Amino acid sequence: AASGYTPASRRDTRYDCVATEERKCSALRKKYPNLRVMNQTAQLRAMLTIIRDRETRKEEFVFYADRIIRLLIEEALNELPFTIKTVTTPTDLVYEGVGFSERICGVSVVRAGESMEKGLTAVCRGIRIGKILIQRDEETTEAVLFYCKLPRDINERFVLLLDPMLASGGSICKAISVLVDHGVALEKIIFVNLVAAPEGLQQVFSIYPKIKIVCAAIDEGLNEMKFIVPGIGDFGDRYFGTN
Ligand code: PRP
Ligand code: URA
Ligand code: MG
Repeated sequence: AASGYTPASRRDTRYDCVATEERKCSALRKKYPNLRVMNQTAQLRAMLTIIRDRETRKEEFVFYADRIIRLLIEEALNELPFTIKTVTTPTDLVYEGVGFSERICGVSVVRAGESMEKGLTAVCRGIRIGKILIQRDEETTEAVLFYCKLPRDINERFVLLLDPMLASGGSICKAISVLVDHGVALEKIIFVNLVAAPEGLQQVFSIYPKIKIVCAAIDEGLNEMKFIVPGIGDFGDRYFGTN
């Protein structure tokens, strides 16, 4: 009978791994009130597993990274302010709904952050996108600013700041300082990030506690090269095929 049927997606084994991940994230959510971590569903973890696998080739890496980024951006949009908006439906009735209330723009941290622009323009038609070029010096791991081009009225917009990797936090702190120099209020910065190391979260929130961070996964830590572990490797290299 129908009552005896358990869909494969509800079998316990799948949910064990989800529960472990949820416990880890919930401690960090408590520590940082402005941290949002995506629900660790089996589907999300399956996609993360594919991009973490060192055997995954470029085409598949891009396909699954894009799918996760799309979900992540939808999640980040939940952090924007809404107002009440009333419309009349085709049945001639009034519906009290909500509407976006603020203007937004994207800012990608070149180069890896550019991988997130496609997902952003797919859900926010015509969005303006600024760029900040920051590279970690591969010897010293220090973040260096090379170039920046931002929408002129950026100080009047909410900013979705895009970078898939948060390792030591040096790069994103540099990017945030550039936004602040252009008049952006910290409360209006939403950092959209795929994988974060606890060290990076600590670094960013200790300097900029008012920004929001939305991420898909939080990892164990950093290795001696300041790479996230277990991590994904060099995201930019894998996404753009330069490894
Ligand atoms: C990566 C990544 C971040 C940064 C994270 O960029 O995209 O910007 O490192 O490290 P951090 O938190 O320790 O600063 P990378 O410098 O490798 O440049 P890329 O985008 O060209 O790969
Ligand atoms: N940048 C990456 O692409 N990966 C890391 O693990 C750290 C920085
Ligand atoms: Mg890189």
